[in-house]
Amino acid sequence: MSKKKVLVTGGTGFIGSHTAAVLLDQGCDAVIFDNLSNSKIGVVDRIRRIAARRPDFAMGDIRDKAALSALFRAHDFDAVIHFAGLKAVGESVAKPLPYYENNITGSLALYEAMGNAGVRTLIFSSSATVYGPVNHVPYLEGMPLSATNPYGWTKLMNEQILRDLCAADPSWSVALLRYFNPGGAHRSGLIGEDPNGIPNNLLPYAAKVAAGELERIHIFGDDYDTPDGTGVRDYIHVMDLARGHALALDWLAAKRRGAGAGSGATAINLGTGKGTSVREIIAAFEAACGKTLPAVVGPRRPGDLAATYADAGLARELLGFETEYGIEDICADIWKWQQYAAENGI
Ligand code: NAD
Ligand code: WQD
Repeated sequence: MSKKKVLVTGGTGFIGSHTAAVLLDQGCDAVIFDNLSNSKIGVVDRIRRIAARRPDFAMGDIRDKAALSALFRAHDFDAVIHFAGLKAVGESVAKPLPYYENNITGSLALYEAMGNAGVRTLIFSSSATVYGPVNHVPYLEGMPLSATNPYGWTKLMNEQILRDLCAADPSWSVALLRYFNPGGAHRSGLIGEDPNGIPNNLLPYAAKVAAGELERIHIFGDDYDTPDGTGVRDYIHVMDLARGHALALDWLAAKRRGAGAGSGATAINLGTGKGTSVREIIAAFEAACGKTLPAVVGPRRPGDLAATYADAGLARELLGFETEYGIEDICADIWKWQQYAAENGI
């Protein structure tokens, strides 16, 4: 990767911290901008310990226009990777306004500050949730999009805002990266997912059961039309995901050079293309931690789909992206991180 200076909003969070570490290892400068609403300042020091270079950190909120313009005045960024946002689906149903305010108003302020500063290369964290409930797997980027909850709408709306922006001003280059189910942790075990309270997602929940902090896994339904009846998802290792961002930055830069201008907004799936069931995840986690994880079958979770997984062809074609890690690595690395976090009071 050519050396770039990259603003990483939400860079102390789960995916942002791993991406910052990858960028630093590849010789880029990374400036993290985060309000620490869902992450801890200690992450910055731990990124410093594992990466070849040090990230800069600025505490701030993407809704704060004055803070954003000061940030863009202080740094000459080549690109922005925009991870900052709220991400809990259930919470977004209960509290839609903070979700729209944070994820829409905050993103608009960021795009405006970028435009004012002449920084028009952006990676936006989108999600497989934009495929909604109607499409058949594997999900292809050209499929119709929809949302079933406020969180999903904020992703869909951001995609539309960025498509409109690129249509109005062709000097923008934007990648809408649609992540499937991220998991795993840095291979060092020093950074990983650190959710507040009881996790909603299967992988961090299984980690807490393995650690003895929660009693048992609740399998949300085993009567789906899937090979073992449990839900199937496309779990992608966060280090693969992070590397996908570095490849996307290079691709955006090459496209800009080739076209002599921006390259519009392009949606790209980041997944493995392979589905794994809840029972397969539990078995992989048991193998990783060497314990039996108590599990009970309960009712389906409202809104869940039987199976979601990516068509990973476009990422391969455009970015040369191939995943390196499987669910065994995902579970082993989460377990390593879980133990490090417990031993160090994180
Ligand atoms: P995360 O909560 O760990 O990280 C998000 C970071 O953004 C946190 O550090 C938080 O403090 C920060 N933040 C939130 N609001 C902010 C604001 N107004 N100003 C500044 N900082 C703010 O989440 P993550 O799992 O790393 O997800 C990163 C992005 O990827 C999010 O946009 C999320 O919606 C998207 N995404 C995540 C998943 C997933 O399953 N983890 C899947 C698809 C898409
Ligand atoms: C995975 C599978 C559950 C918990 C969510 C968001 C999505 C994206 C990724 C941001 C499903 C089952 C879960 C549990 C279970 N995030 N399960 N017991 O729902 O696929 O995706 O994170 O964009 O938008 O919705 O992930 O980890 O919650 O569920 O049986 O305690 O595990 O039914 O089949 P999901 P998940």
